[in-house]
Amino acid sequence: MRIMVTGVSGFIGSHLAERLLSGGHSVLGVDSFLDFYPREIKENNLKSLLGKPGFEFVEGDIIDLDLNELLSGVEGVYHQAAIAGVRTSWGGRFSEYVKNNISCTQLLLEAAKDKNLKKFVYASSSSVYGDAEAFPTREDVQLRPVSPYGVTKLAGENLATLYYKGYGVPVVSLRYFTVYGPRQRPDMAFHRFIRAAITGGSITVFGTGEQTRDFTFVTDAVEANLRAFSDGVNGESYNIGGGTRIKLIDAIRLIEEISGAKIKIDYKDSERGDARHTSADVSKAERDFNYSPVFGIKEGLTEHYNWLRENIDLYLKLNL
Ligand SMILES: NC(=O)c1ccc[n+]([C@@H]2O[C@H](COP(=O)([O-])OP(=O)(O)OC[C@H]3O[C@@H](n4cnc5c(N)ncnc54)[C@H](O)[C@@H]3O)[C@@H](O)[C@H]2O)c1
Repeated sequence: MRIMVTGVSGFIGSHLAERLLSGGHSVLGVDSFLDFYPREIKENNLKSLLGKPGFEFVEGDIIDLDLNELLSGVEGVYHQAAIAGVRTSWGGRFSEYVKNNISCTQLLLEAAKDKNLKKFVYASSSSVYGDAEAFPTREDVQLRPVSPYGVTKLAGENLATLYYKGYGVPVVSLRYFTVYGPRQRPDMAFHRFIRAAITGGSITVFGTGEQTRDFTFVTDAVEANLRAFSDGVNGESYNIGGGTRIKLIDAIRLIEEISGAKIKIDYKDSERGDARHTSADVSKAERDFNYSPVFGIKEGLTEHYNWLRENIDLYLKLNL
């Protein structure tokens, strides 16, 4: 099958494209190298893809590309492209979130509506829940994002559902719960924590560290995408969690154990927009497409740590 992956030079998109290629598909990867984090990191993410038989890369912004032309001959879409940070979604940059997360999603859905796709998988987020009242959280609770980023991801998800209802675009939305592992975005907590363990720097923890998160190893998130493509029910949204809900402070202790380093922590007040806790009820994904996360937190963090240790020079060179 010929598959489009948007956001292909990003963290999750690059893993997904590798997996699709190794499964015998051809991949049309699209990415604008958005400057949310440095291009050099995204080029590093693409290293193993560029030049591989079956992989084609288009550098460009979804807002400008001829999507009708790009989608001709494509049988499925994994739409990962977005501007993804929560904290920077307040203030002046919000218009970038609207453009990249909402307008681009609408344009892609619009172009997809007469293409007879087998599936359109939309990368949604646990941030659509905000401060959920029940844990683990089911998909059918009320959605009340607590960040502008969450608002845009929810808008994208609602658009996806609308295009299914209105035009039959076979959309499935996956609400990822904090994904980690090799190539994780440099703004994300585990990246910063592991980097501090490697370099001896200190980290900032917003809040007390007692907040809990459901962490999903990237290989599990990729597996969820493939399964949702085959068996996800069109028009539905699914939680994709990692099966471990742990306190941030315990994750830091685990990184110390794996690395043998002591991490210096500066505590700051919680930031506006950070959910207090997240925990995914994945029984719907398990029921519909047999999703069950296999990576435990220690195993996943060990892989993440080993990868960053090997790639640390790139991040140090970029002053990250
Ligand atoms: N990483 C997580 O924990 C997490 C959690 C929940 C949801 N998500 C969602 O998963 C998706 C992937 O996240 P990620 O962590 O890999 O982020 P990422 O920033 O590493 O990847 C996103 C990629 O999309 C590209 N992009 C953005 N706007 C574009 C546009 N208009 N045209 C073309 N390319 C564009 C960027 O250049 C980037 O390479 C995003 O939609 C994000 O909202 C991620």
